[in-house]
Amino acid sequence: MAVRTAVIPAAGMGTRFLPATRATPKELLPIYDTPALQFVIDEAAQAGCTRVVIVTSRAKPSIESYASAASTDKVAVSVVYQDSPLGLGHAVSCARQVVGDEPFVVMLPDEIMGDASLTKQLVALHEKSGKSSIGLKRVAATEVSSYGNVKVAVYKSDTEDAVEILQVVEKPKPADAVSDIVIIGRYVFSPNIFDKLEQIKPSANGELQLTDALEMLANERALLGVVSEITRYDTGTPMGLLRAVIEIALERKDVGQQLNSWLKEKFNK
Ligand code: UTP
Repeated sequence: MAVRTAVIPAAGMGTRFLPATRATPKELLPIYDTPALQFVIDEAAQAGCTRVVIVTSRAKPSIESYASAASTDKVAVSVVYQDSPLGLGHAVSCARQVVGDEPFVVMLPDEIMGDASLTKQLVALHEKSGKSSIGLKRVAATEVSSYGNVKVAVYKSDTEDAVEILQVVEKPKPADAVSDIVIIGRYVFSPNIFDKLEQIKPSANGELQLTDALEMLANERALLGVVSEITRYDTGTPMGLLRAVIEIALERKDVGQQLNSWLKEKFNK
């Protein structure tokens, strides 16, 4: 079945960006002149989605007002609410009624990708296999403990880089890592993810973790992944946001050259 809907969870507290997030939600912090959220809406449209559903909080009215002006002739943008920030798994389940009985993409707006290629690959893998398919990346051993970590096997498919996920471990201690492959913020889900999300229990910090539902799919051998080398900016951390602003501005026709000359001048002193 074709994947036409993208869900963007944007109801978190953004505590790592305080005090900025008292004024502006993390998802609307500008990457030079464009809110992070817009990059993700554009990526959804480029990957063929015609509908974007933003999960937001009533404490972040500027997201709703941004969304109300974000629809284009290619994509219709709407919002649903998560009444309290009970975790990413809970945020995704808040979109259940709007998504309906269809496969859908989940895109984390604090991860900006260089292009839409990974989301397109995941959509293609889902359309071919009928299975939920998630974005993966190899990282240095020292970084594994910041992510969901997966053990994988080769998946027999003509889709490049596709793997079957055998095990999922959330933020393992270095000694407990099962590989150097981690989950990144792009997912294509079959609608049965909503049933899994109903079954999960809150983790130690009281949140409903999406990773726990992924673990259930992996245990049923119902989860695939694509190991990607895509350019990715983790704009959920202050350093990642700075890097995104500089690198994306360097690519821009209007300011790229000026910024490049200024940086050279500054560092050649
Ligand atoms: P994060 O955990 O990175 O966002 O969730 P956060 O909680 O806002 O960040 P910090 O740790 O306090 O700085 C990834 C994405 O999931 C959304 C967030 O808005 C972010 O886009 N999210 C997270 C929700 O929509 N609801 C939640 O309950 C948690």
